Amino acid sequence: MIREPGRSVKPLAPRPGHLDNNSTKGEPEQAPSAGASAAPMSRPPSKLPEVGTTIFTVMSKLAADCGAINLSQGFPDFSAPAELLERVSHHLRAGHNQYAPMAGVAALREQLAEQIAFRLVEGEVTVTSGATEALFCAIQAFAHPGDEVMIFDPAYDAYEPAARLAGARAVHVPLTPPAFGIDWQRVRDSLTARTRVIVLNSPHNPTGAVLDAADLEALAAIVRDRPIVLVSDEVYEHIIFDGRRHESLLRHAELAERALVISSFGKTYHATGWKIGYCVAPAPLMGEFRKVHQFVQFCVVTPMQLALADFMDSTPEHYLDLPAFYQAKRDLFCELLAPSRFRFTPSPGTYFQLVDYGAISPEPDVDFARRLTRETGVAAIPISVFCQQPPTRRWLRFCFAKEARTLERAAQLLCRL
Ligand SMILES: Cc1ncc(COP(=O)(O)O)c(C=O)c1O
Repeated sequence: MIREPGRSVKPLAPRPGHLDNNSTKGEPEQAPSAGASAAPMSRPPSKLPEVGTTIFTVMSKLAADCGAINLSQGFPDFSAPAELLERVSHHLRAGHNQYAPMAGVAALREQLAEQIAFRLVEGEVTVTSGATEALFCAIQAFAHPGDEVMIFDPAYDAYEPAARLAGARAVHVPLTPPAFGIDWQRVRDSLTARTRVIVLNSPHNPTGAVLDAADLEALAAIVRDRPIVLVSDEVYEHIIFDGRRHESLLRHAELAERALVISSFGKTYHATGWKIGYCVAPAPLMGEFRKVHQFVQFCVVTPMQLALADFMDSTPEHYLDLPAFYQAKRDLFCELLAPSRFRFTPSPGTYFQLVDYGAISPEPDVDFARRLTRETGVAAIPISVFCQQPPTRRWLRFCFAKEARTLERAAQLLCRL
């Protein structure tokens, strides 16, 4: 790390019950004390003073440091399909290594439009640098200073900083345990004249909850006649279990007119490290989205886009088989964990399993997650870091996008607690 001469890096003070300066919720840096002898530095104030490193980085690093099994950060420990990798190599060697079109390569957008997005309009699909970039651009494009962006807790940690960097305020509405559904009356009560964006996430990280058709109707009734844009994070669109249907906002004609629907090839094709995602929206919304995207990222890595297009064309069964593929992993993990003292209901979607550890320890979840990593050798994600209000129960999230042998080893350790 290169430091500016004369500057020292001061550790931030930890806040009880929360993570230290490596967390998503560290403390703001302290101002120098009145008696300090060093000349005050003229540093601009932070735009995100209480934001530190994300919990995913913190827990993955701790897992690596401790040699623990990493069921914290959400990524598979198995490979992307061999044919997909072969297509990447083909396109790299074929010289497809220059800038892609700003909206994404045509072949990939066509595949998306046909297979996933139910639309085939040039101006309505944009390939992005992961769902993360799409979420950021969507929120920047529509949230103005002073606006309110509604998010549901526990909320994926990228939403609030994007709102705040746009000068907007995040309004947190808690989901209702144990099923973590949306309380639509509470949503109605939380709306103001400043509500500009509502961020939805189904299947939901970290709880696995999924929206159903009745939820979409309730949402439509609430936003009707209001100038609200919907940002729908559907990165786990193909990871949904027990015969449920993913209720994309794209399926609902009225909602689709005001929605930016965002997904991730990383989740669907077991390639989270590629950071390639996409956004689907009606042309007028997409026009605003692209104004931001072209200056945040402009375009996304060309050979990977071409490879994904080829693979989607040759192997459409890949995404169609995902529910069964991940349901088998969920069932295995739940079966292995059944004799443990963790309490849980099998996840309806995503590759995460929420568990209640209240019968094992009274510790706050952040402390318990750290101890579990260090002493038991299994890393998990604490849920409180995704919530404005502390959760009512003691929950952790495990990722089951892992080989059977990884899940077996982890469950063996967890069953000893
Ligand atoms: C709910 C949710 N949204 C967005 C993302 C980011 O996706 P990507 O890796 O494609 O940027 C993730 C990744 O974990 C996620 O869980």
